[in-house]
Amino acid sequence: MASSHGFFLKSLFCFLVLISLAIATVSASSFNQDFDITWGDGRAKILNNGDLLTLSLDKASGSGFQSRHEYLFGKIDMQLKLVAGNSAGTVTAYYLSSQGPTHDEIDFEFLGNLSGDPYILHTNVFSQGKGNREQQFYLWFDPTADFHTYSILWNPQRIIFSVDGIPIREFKNSESIGVPFPKNQAMRIYSSLWNADDWATRGGLVKTDWTKAPFTASYRNFNANACIMSSGSSSCDSKSPTSTTDNLQWLSQELDSAGQERMKWVQNNYMIYNYCTDTKRFPQGLPPECSDTNTS
Ligand SMILES: *[C@@H]1O[C@H](CO)[C@@H](O)[C@H](O)[C@H]1NC(C)=O
Repeated sequence: MASSHGFFLKSLFCFLVLISLAIATVSASSFNQDFDITWGDGRAKILNNGDLLTLSLDKASGSGFQSRHEYLFGKIDMQLKLVAGNSAGTVTAYYLSSQGPTHDEIDFEFLGNLSGDPYILHTNVFSQGKGNREQQFYLWFDPTADFHTYSILWNPQRIIFSVDGIPIREFKNSESIGVPFPKNQAMRIYSSLWNADDWATRGGLVKTDWTKAPFTASYRNFNANACIMSSGSSSCDSKSPTSTTDNLQWLSQELDSAGQERMKWVQNNYMIYNYCTDTKRFPQGLPPECSDTNTS
């Protein structure tokens, strides 16, 4: 009697393990499941059973996609391989944004260049409709040769931009000194490939060479450890903080000293523009968050 009871429990356990494995497999990223192509008339494509997404741009149009879910905080990774060869004048934007005139936004934008000349990685943070917080970087690798991981950690205390796990920028919550922080509006993930040769490459001096079109950028391995908002409630509210499968440790994650060192390395060697040091642009004084020594 006792042993058949034990057998029953073991079978039940195995069954539950199999079910959760099946769920884990299904919920592993698929572009078919997590994203909608929103524009570009066939120029955006989901390939390889949802493992790969490509955007393309030609003289007639660019293309774009957006996430199905809206998120309020998350640790979101995407691998991108940018337009190769002569990509001058093209912009690949990958960002989080809410909607409306007082929207919040967290931006990565990749500004293309002539073959062999460096892309610029442009970042910005909008809160309550106000941006003007640009920081720009060169990359320490060729972003067109292979896929690299671009990540946004967004929790109530800070936003950290990372590239291949190396933090490049931190925007801290400075509400205590009157700077609004994105924490009340859910955001979707958006990406688009479009032409901006009036400003993108060397300030607009280098134009797009349309004989090289179509231009293509690729995406894979999307992963969101994030709070999904639906009809006003957050998926994170139902998760127990002790649960190991739904680890919410990122919700209070901060940069440790190794992370700070690595960020300093990137900023010392690869940062080419920082709004926090642009005194010409802000003659009345730099934005308040810039005097928090840890923000810039
Ligand atoms: C393109 O290359 C030029 C020359 O190296 C450089 O000045 C510029 O910052 C690069 N990137 C962009 C997007 O203009």
